[in-house]
Amino acid sequence: MLRSIYIETYGCQMNFADTEIVNGILRKEGYEIAADIDGADAVFLNTCAIRDNAEQRIYGRLSNLSHLKKRNPHLVFGVLGCMAERLRANLLEQNSDVDIVCGPDEYRKLPALIDQAFEGEKGIRTQLSRVETYDDIVPLRTDGISAWVAVMRGCDKFCTFCVVPFTRGRERSRPMHGIVREVAGLLDRGFREVTLLGQNVNSYHDADADFADLLVAVAALDPQLRVRFTTSHPQDMSDRLIAAIAEHDNICKYIHLPFQSGSDRILALMNRTYSREHYLGLVKKIRAAVPDVALSTDVIAGFPTETEEDHQQTLSLMEEVRYDGAFMFKYSPREKTRAWNMGDDIPDEVKGRRLEEIIDLQRRISYEINRTIVGKRQRILLEGPSKRSDVEWMGRTDTNKTVIVPRGDFIAGDLLDVHISSATSATLFGRPVGIPAVEAA
Ligand code: SAH
Ligand code: SF4
Ligand code: F3S
Repeated sequence: MLRSIYIETYGCQMNFADTEIVNGILRKEGYEIAADIDGADAVFLNTCAIRDNAEQRIYGRLSNLSHLKKRNPHLVFGVLGCMAERLRANLLEQNSDVDIVCGPDEYRKLPALIDQAFEGEKGIRTQLSRVETYDDIVPLRTDGISAWVAVMRGCDKFCTFCVVPFTRGRERSRPMHGIVREVAGLLDRGFREVTLLGQNVNSYHDADADFADLLVAVAALDPQLRVRFTTSHPQDMSDRLIAAIAEHDNICKYIHLPFQSGSDRILALMNRTYSREHYLGLVKKIRAAVPDVALSTDVIAGFPTETEEDHQQTLSLMEEVRYDGAFMFKYSPREKTRAWNMGDDIPDEVKGRRLEEIIDLQRRISYEINRTIVGKRQRILLEGPSKRSDVEWMGRTDTNKTVIVPRGDFIAGDLLDVHISSATSATLFGRPVGIPAVEAA
């Protein structure tokens, strides 16, 4: 009997890429991958553990899925990903609906776990690996414009707030030839953009090759292919990598460069291994080499012992750098991390207020930057109809800004020159160059 599996994915792009790997493994073993939860024989949640609210969301989802199990007691439920790795057997103990717990390095065991679960046996696999990169697995992707390609797994940085080294294990890189082969295959299938993924892509290595070599090798496959990457750690960003971005037209002029805090004292407590001065120097160097580069970042409000003065340092760093965008979070203590033992002394209202100040500042800066683009011409890669309206299309600039254009005779994957006519802090609006504005009505 053909069994169908449905996977719901939460968390970062690594998890979305992993779901494609899991689907690749399951399809090869003869399972059907369901597009819809209704009627699936097994339902998996590929989970995130980065902050407590990410986990609360999963608990909420598990409890509102339990009616499915009441209706069909043979339905198999599984938890994959970072929460599976973090909580292990506790998940089975806490929630009687859960049949399978499987961590990020054990996805090859899933077919066996699923078969056992259909026989009524619960199963758990959460060993982390120093070598697993799933290099030989062909991820199951739906055709599209943009693909995510994991180039490494795990993280050795051990930032003191972060659970990732515990949920994803030690850092390891995929062989370069496997990555290049995969991207060549994506090009043949019509993909126009790839994002090379890792928790810290700057420390990628394969024999003598480093991340700059990998990026150049991928970019060389086709000058029309857009190449993106994330995430860069400020300590490991090499001059060669900056030069590679500057020298290749199809390596996007967009760098996600998390700073986390503007205070040297907090950066040291976070074990980020760079200072404010180093970070600002790096930004200056990047901007000198790549003048039109867009920068985004991650920042945490309310790390243990953070004073008003530390917080002001964070705001002033943001003012100094002027990021195009930012992901902004309240500190959330995670068990096993070193910061867990530093307590969580900043009251929630204070964290909330600091976060709001950070968000307000960033929104203003994003708006100011986007406004300077109004009236200018930008080239966008069209991704498809916009989420909000079916008479509009959305595309992205090289600098990763979302642009909405009126629907025309385009197809997804087209590179389109647009005239930017207005902007908010999050979105640009434009019309194709040469097409009169009345089209937008
Ligand atoms: N590897 C990437 C990002 C990993 S997680 C990097 O090093 O930048 C994404 C972001 O979540 C982090 O950059 C950080 O800003 C945030 N984050 C991680 N752990 C957190 C925690 N315990 N509380 C709040 N935010 C956290
Ligand atoms: Fe977490 Fe730091 Fe590694 Fe990023 S670099 S995944 S924040 S430990
Ligand atoms: Fe979450 Fe795991 Fe990614 S904790 S952010 S899904 S690496």
